Amino acid sequence: MDDPLKFSLADFFYNDNSSVLKPPSDFVEWMSDPRIQAGFSFFEQQLLKAPTAETEILSNLDNKKRRVINLTSYNYLGLSSHPEVIQAAIDGLRKYGLGASGAPLLSGTFDLHVQFARMLAEFKQKEDCILFSSGLGGNLGIMQGILRKGDLLLLDEKGHKSLLDGGKLSGAKVRMFEHNSVEDLARLLDENKDKRILVAVEGVYSMDGDLVKLPEIVELCEPYDNVELLIDEAHSTLMFGENGRGVAEHFGLEDKIGISFGTLSKSFGGVGGFVCSNAGIIRYLKGYASPYNFSCAPSPPIVAGLIKALEVATRDSSLRDKLWENTAYFKKNLDALNLNMGATESQVIPIIIGSSGELLFEMAAEIQKRGLFLQPVDFPAVPAHSRRFRISVSSQLTRENIDEACNIIEDVIARRLRKV
Ligand SMILES: Cc1ncc(COP(=O)(O)O)c(C=O)c1O
Repeated sequence: MDDPLKFSLADFFYNDNSSVLKPPSDFVEWMSDPRIQAGFSFFEQQLLKAPTAETEILSNLDNKKRRVINLTSYNYLGLSSHPEVIQAAIDGLRKYGLGASGAPLLSGTFDLHVQFARMLAEFKQKEDCILFSSGLGGNLGIMQGILRKGDLLLLDEKGHKSLLDGGKLSGAKVRMFEHNSVEDLARLLDENKDKRILVAVEGVYSMDGDLVKLPEIVELCEPYDNVELLIDEAHSTLMFGENGRGVAEHFGLEDKIGISFGTLSKSFGGVGGFVCSNAGIIRYLKGYASPYNFSCAPSPPIVAGLIKALEVATRDSSLRDKLWENTAYFKKNLDALNLNMGATESQVIPIIIGSSGELLFEMAAEIQKRGLFLQPVDFPAVPAHSRRFRISVSSQLTRENIDEACNIIEDVIARRLRKV
């Protein structure tokens, strides 16, 4: 291999080895390069405490425990360790034990699951809701549960892998449209008038933090009887909209959305996924979504904690108000450093570095040694010309945390970029 740095995970998907238990030989060679290993050392670093705004990690860089300001976890509202949430989970654990010990259709449905699904349906203003043990499983489940061969999934090209994989699993045809491009989507709708179509978008796009152009997309799709709209609100539920119901609420378009998906692993601070829609299709999904009916139901103590998390996040707007206050303050400071934050409109703030993977990882190492947990995002997760850091703002961050983070970002990123 002449220059390992020219390669990425995008290059080793196909395997010409005679055994499926042997990775491709060029992959093994690539992984043995110390510079590639250094890059991979940023993965799977161990958190030693809750994913709060200040936490502790065991750094893979030097095997040292380090107190860090956490800009990477998706614990946007700090609910994962909110005292009331923890107490509810403890009570749930004592009463119900650790696991559900069964798939939902047989013995895995507890009163907690029914209560939480009802609460979510009411919150999202839909007739019914189905819970999944993971967000990814939820997206696989929707697609595989309702799309059939001959159907068409039209997915924004920046859509999450779970939406794409679900589409492939369903046997439907999957086509991507250019990110947020109403023109490209219009062309595809026009070419496929004979098919049942599901258009899938995200409320907040997870790598760029920009919002779906929902009003334009709704206007475009509405006249077609064969087209339904799904919104993945993984990064927007509990945060956007006057009542925290998400980006569809933010745009006043909830009644135009056929299927509303959310994860329970981000702002909710737990784990799992949920899908809200009309009662008929939820009933149908329960029969055909394998991640639902062939997988153990969500852990009861987690659901007990999630019920409390939903109550805490919706009883007033204080957590999301704080999140938006922190986001505005962070952006103002980053703006003053002349950093490229792309098209962000949310609490997800990219700092785009450019095409050099070496520079990205050098900066990442220095940032971490200075006490910031801010992970690098490399190609193929993002385009090769826009390697980046991605800040997840949390309501828990203090002004002091943000000031300290911005000082480190200025020293390590802004100063270096000015020289490049
Ligand atoms: C947009 C989007 N959808 C779905 C998922 C999957 O959710 P989970 O991590 O809860 O399985 C993610 C996770 O990052 C996501 O960003």
